[in-house]
Amino acid sequence: MNDLFARDSGRPVTGPRTRAGWLSAALGVALVATTVVVASSSASAGTTLATAAGETGRYFGTAVAANKLSDSVYVGILNREFNSVTAENEMKWDATEPSQGQFTFANADRIVNHARANGMMVRGHALAWHSQQPGWAQNMSGTALRSAMVNHITQVASYYRGKIHSWDVVNEAFADGSTGARRDSNLQRTGNDWIEVAFRTARAADPTAKLCYNDYNTDDWTHAKTQAVYTMVRDFKTRGVPIDCVGLQSHFNPQSPVPANYQTTLSSFAALGVDVQITELDIEGSGQAQADNYGRVVRACLAVARCTGITVWGIRDTDSWRASGTPLLFDGSGNKKPAYTSTLNALNGGGTTPPPTTPPPTTPPPTTPPPTTPPPVGACAATVSLNSWTGGFVATVRVTAGSAGLNGWTVAVALPSGSALTNTWSARASGTSGALTFRNVDYNGQLAPGASTEFGFQGTGTGPTGTPTCTAG
Ligand code: XIL
Repeated sequence: MNDLFARDSGRPVTGPRTRAGWLSAALGVALVATTVVVASSSASAGTTLATAAGETGRYFGTAVAANKLSDSVYVGILNREFNSVTAENEMKWDATEPSQGQFTFANADRIVNHARANGMMVRGHALAWHSQQPGWAQNMSGTALRSAMVNHITQVASYYRGKIHSWDVVNEAFADGSTGARRDSNLQRTGNDWIEVAFRTARAADPTAKLCYNDYNTDDWTHAKTQAVYTMVRDFKTRGVPIDCVGLQSHFNPQSPVPANYQTTLSSFAALGVDVQITELDIEGSGQAQADNYGRVVRACLAVARCTGITVWGIRDTDSWRASGTPLLFDGSGNKKPAYTSTLNALNGGGTTPPPTTPPPTTPPPTTPPPTTPPPVGACAATVSLNSWTGGFVATVRVTAGSAGLNGWTVAVALPSGSALTNTWSARASGTSGALTFRNVDYNGQLAPGASTEFGFQGTGTGPTGTPTCTAG
């Protein structure tokens, strides 16, 4: 069973006409064909994008807009050709949490329900992103924004737990150009660790989804931005930050063409031990030139075992976010373009390297380095503010130095029985249940007399009760 549908194994296949059933049948045929008959590729050629991709264990998806699910031409192509969907806008922060703490999933649910009813998998897009934030979050900064981000990820990923194949946990966090720097944003200004906190939070909320970092202009292996993302992913793998996949949006046009080294980029990321997914493919152009470019992208993916699927960013040219560039596989009337034929042929022609059926990577929990204990000076106080919901909480703790100032602090907190700590930021935690202690990290241990700093943690169950105790050192 390929990994794609193994993740959905909790849901029974309801009938022979579901796409999952159809695809596994096709996979079975393909397996028999290769082992017994020795490759009659034309006999097993898929006649749709999904079945052709499925012959090598890959998925083929599209972005979907909820308000087009009543368009019969659109839905006809969707159901015929694709076995994965990404909500084009409906799972973004502004759509799912328009007011702080008030979550709305109706439009996203329409897409998820359509996908599940038709045996398609769902990519989640996107949990933390500088763009398409609700106004209230755009106006936030610092610890308040960090807590809001953690709460948002927790709520959305928990709500969809078990239904999402892969989450774009963080989207577009690196700057364009030659610096290789992080993109400036309100999220970035909460501290450089915001990305890893987002990934740890997502893992805690939905341990079954693959967790992806997703970006654009990361297709050319020589670009500084590509190298910067690569370096971050390598660092995350080294330190045990939970990351399973890298998404390449792959929005191409004449100014940003499919690079000659695209396959090198895919294979280099894959060599880090993550899956690679092409997540938002569209290629501006027309005719044979556009068709050739689609073919190149598909062949590059098929040549890399851990390139596990391709998603195009819309169905018809008229559905595209950049419709004037006619970048998709179907014209405005829903007819197949040369780009469609080229894509289908490439899917059918290649793929001697099926992706391995790897179990979801088990990422070891982060190891907490032993805290350094400077000599105690002075006393401190700590207060906690809680954001709770059924089944979980986020706690923000404010540490205030007494009249002597602080050179390090420790805060003790008691969790009620049945509750468990899942995630901490701006402090080092000891223990996961019952009596917990949190020590300062390097950058927030020194406090002038009367000065304050904040740290946070998150858990399952109900949050701590009573006042935390703070000691110096
Ligand atoms: C785009 C949508 O397609 C548009 O409908 C919306 O107005 C703006 O966002 N990178 C991403 C996608 O990760 O979420 C963006 O989608 C396109 C660029």
